[in-house]
Amino acid sequence: MVTVVRRTHGEYQLRIEYLTMQASVPAAVAGAYQRPAASPSSLPLDRILKGDCVAALEQLPAESVDLVFADPPYNLQLTGELHRPDQSRVDGVNDHWDQFADFSAYDAFTRAWLLQCRRVLKPTGALWVIGSYHNIFRVGASLQNLGFWILNDVIWVKSNPMPNFRGMRFTNAHETLIWAAKSADAKKYTFNYDALKTANDGLQMRSDWAFPLCTGAERLKDSKGKKAHPTQKPEGLLHRILLSSSRPGDVVLDPFFGTGTTGAVAKRLGRHFIGVEREQAYIDAANARIEAVTPAQDTALNVTEGKRAQPRVAFGTLVEQGLIAIGTELTDVKGRHRAVVRADGSLDANGRTGSIHKVGAALQGLEACNGWTFWHFEEAGDRKPIDAVRAAFRGRAKTNAA
Ligand SMILES: C[S@@+](CC[C@H](N)C(=O)[O-])C[C@H]1O[C@@H](n2cnc3c(N)ncnc32)[C@H](O)[C@@H]1O
Repeated sequence: MVTVVRRTHGEYQLRIEYLTMQASVPAAVAGAYQRPAASPSSLPLDRILKGDCVAALEQLPAESVDLVFADPPYNLQLTGELHRPDQSRVDGVNDHWDQFADFSAYDAFTRAWLLQCRRVLKPTGALWVIGSYHNIFRVGASLQNLGFWILNDVIWVKSNPMPNFRGMRFTNAHETLIWAAKSADAKKYTFNYDALKTANDGLQMRSDWAFPLCTGAERLKDSKGKKAHPTQKPEGLLHRILLSSSRPGDVVLDPFFGTGTTGAVAKRLGRHFIGVEREQAYIDAANARIEAVTPAQDTALNVTEGKRAQPRVAFGTLVEQGLIAIGTELTDVKGRHRAVVRADGSLDANGRTGSIHKVGAALQGLEACNGWTFWHFEEAGDRKPIDAVRAAFRGRAKTNAA
């Protein structure tokens, strides 16, 4: 059993019982899954909850959100001020929300919020967390210990990083994102592979992403013209994250909402958000920002879908529906192999029987064969792949559902 004892700000203590072996952790986490699944209407959709995220998340129903994006405190442990060569002061992150007594306090806090995120995620949900070298390794270890399953780490390469003013280290020009499914056996997480490939001019999207730091008009300013938040993330980064791993209408939770970058992008992309933030000034800035966002038109939210995203259609279904008649003769594209369609959607090629894939493979002496593209039927003197019939069937099903 894992019990989180919350104390004062930044001080968390984990009481972990029966938790000596890592293998027992997911079972312990499963103990937190007792509340019934939520209907979307019981969620505080498109709102910012004020307060500590662990306490706020405890109030949310289990298995109710589709995606978490978390930009937690970095625990930078800055000591003293940092100046540029011209003696101007560097705006570092030295806010009280980023301060923890020591690594173990930070770890306890990390486990506490990750545990709640895991509880509120749907089984198909996933989590993104961003951090720097100061914290991301600790966060990564915690989430693995809690049963999350890392799908990728992604490097956000900053095209305009802050130099290393003292010249004692390399320019710190990236942050790391971890994308994780809820567990090793959670295979049905959302990944809009083809949409990302399309966005990348037809090339598979890689795990190194270049975005500039948030500057210019996008950077929120307070009434004195100073940065409203020290670590406001670029909207482009959130756009890619939400586009890749959520769908229109999904619920995206951000437990460290800051100035609401996640909320602004979620609204634009037709997703719901739930934000949690402790500081009123950031909440005010986030609310004003999100209010000004115009959501994209519904039709513009559809993205390129690959075959994997399409509903499964069995060959037998096409036969049942009369779209391919029993007794139709199928051939390969050159007409060298022949088979006849039987009533149950299997094929008979001179006594060799089985599925479209099995018979196609056997006739060619291969281990495997994609029967959908191998087998053809004749129409108006042309040979057409049976996949064309499946595509038409899917298209009709989609139109009927709309
Ligand atoms: C790294 S910043 C997030 C910035 C945000 N992604 C943005 O683009 O504006 C972390 C935020 O978490 C908030 N925070 C820190 N500890 C918190 C806690 N225990 N509960 C809720 N919010 C917290 C801080 O006030 C800060 O705004």
